Amino acid sequence: MDPIRNPYAPGAGQRPPELAGRDEQLAAFDVVLERIARGRPERSLVLTGLRGVGKTVLLNALRSAAVRKRWGTGKLEARPDQRLRRPLSSALHQAVRELGHPQADDVDHVLGVIRAFAQREAGAGAKLADRWNPGIDAPAVKGRADSGDIEIDLVELLTDLGGLAADVGKGVAVFLDEMQDLGPDDVSALCAACHEISQSGLPVIVVGAGLPHLPAVLSASKSYSERLFRYQRIDRLVRDAADRALAAPAKEEDAEFEPAALEAMYAATGGYPYFIQAYGKAVWDLAPASPITAADVTVAAPEAEAELAVGFFGSRFERATPGEREYLRAMADSAVAIAECGAEPLDDIQSVPTADVATVLGKRPQSLSPARDALLKKGLIYSGERGRIAFTVPHFGRYLREHG
Ligand SMILES: Nc1ncnc2c1ncn2[C@@H]1O[C@H](COP(=O)(O)OP(=O)(O)OP(=O)(O)O)[C@@H](O)[C@H]1O
Ligand SMILES: [Mg+2]
Repeated sequence: MDPIRNPYAPGAGQRPPELAGRDEQLAAFDVVLERIARGRPERSLVLTGLRGVGKTVLLNALRSAAVRKRWGTGKLEARPDQRLRRPLSSALHQAVRELGHPQADDVDHVLGVIRAFAQREAGAGAKLADRWNPGIDAPAVKGRADSGDIEIDLVELLTDLGGLAADVGKGVAVFLDEMQDLGPDDVSALCAACHEISQSGLPVIVVGAGLPHLPAVLSASKSYSERLFRYQRIDRLVRDAADRALAAPAKEEDAEFEPAALEAMYAATGGYPYFIQAYGKAVWDLAPASPITAADVTVAAPEAEAELAVGFFGSRFERATPGEREYLRAMADSAVAIAECGAEPLDDIQSVPTADVATVLGKRPQSLSPARDALLKKGLIYSGERGRIAFTVPHFGRYLREHG
């Protein structure tokens, strides 16, 4: 069918033509925004899930919801080797701009505090000219959010910002993607700041998103984090939602899927949003006409798989060193061994014991720690429970068995 009218959107953070199966999260967030706006206690929200399940897209949708309520919003993405100060300063600068300009003096004060916070990064010895500034004209405020202790500074910064938002009867929401990549000091400071803010009833919320082990990262940092954040697991779509993700955009273009085609699509994609978009795109281009049939899906499958092998799996596999790749393959083989014992069907196995991986490789578990730690750091695997390890990328085991 006409590729120009192809509605599907595979790609990191690409807004899907139909945001299917997330109504519950969107509705819950509206309640959170209303409660915070009224000074009611609310926990900050943290979305967790595997690669490609739609965390970034949902985070953006939640941000839009906050913007519609005229909140000030900002977004940032954590990176493993970057500190929080600068990207957070930019995000909060954006949030203040979105709040509008009620009382210029108050706004200038908060902007000055953000600037002071940002500039503390350069260190006390840095020359003035080196000091980075997120484009703020107001002069830096002295003695606020500039102690150099990220925890103290963050509390002061969010308190002042929350005060401004409360004065103008709005709220501020900060969206933090790839939150598992924050450094330990920044995680701990952010938890402490959220704790403080929630006690003071100021209208500020942090909404995070990250890989499935993010709750473990947060609770290792502060034991009270479980009470501080509300975790929402973002998962693959149930059949109904997956069908809608495909059928609704098609309908907009006056096309449709036969029921057997939708069934074949679900079998192939497992309901994972990224796969739904990738298969949707391939089948649309290759199908001769509407309605799209199960046979069209069969024809398009190799195309979709090839696309995923390069863009989704391959790009990640390439980030691993030869030793790490061996470890990844051994994880995939361990799952097969478990399935062969009849314990669980292969597709249901989400994690494997690290001891099994060592057995497959015929090595001592300790000798494998460097490879495992490097893979954890690269975000290719995660450990949800002690002694077990899992891929962060859905269907990665299958990919490795077929291509690795
Ligand atoms: N609810 C949904 N319905 C249909 N398609 C979706 C949905 N959510 C996400 N997608 C699609 O899935 C793909 C992946 O989405 P996104 O980048 O948000 O995932 P992610 O969880 O942030 O992945 P990563 O962990 O790699 O950052 C995109 O192509 C997006 O359009
Ligand atoms: Mg993402």
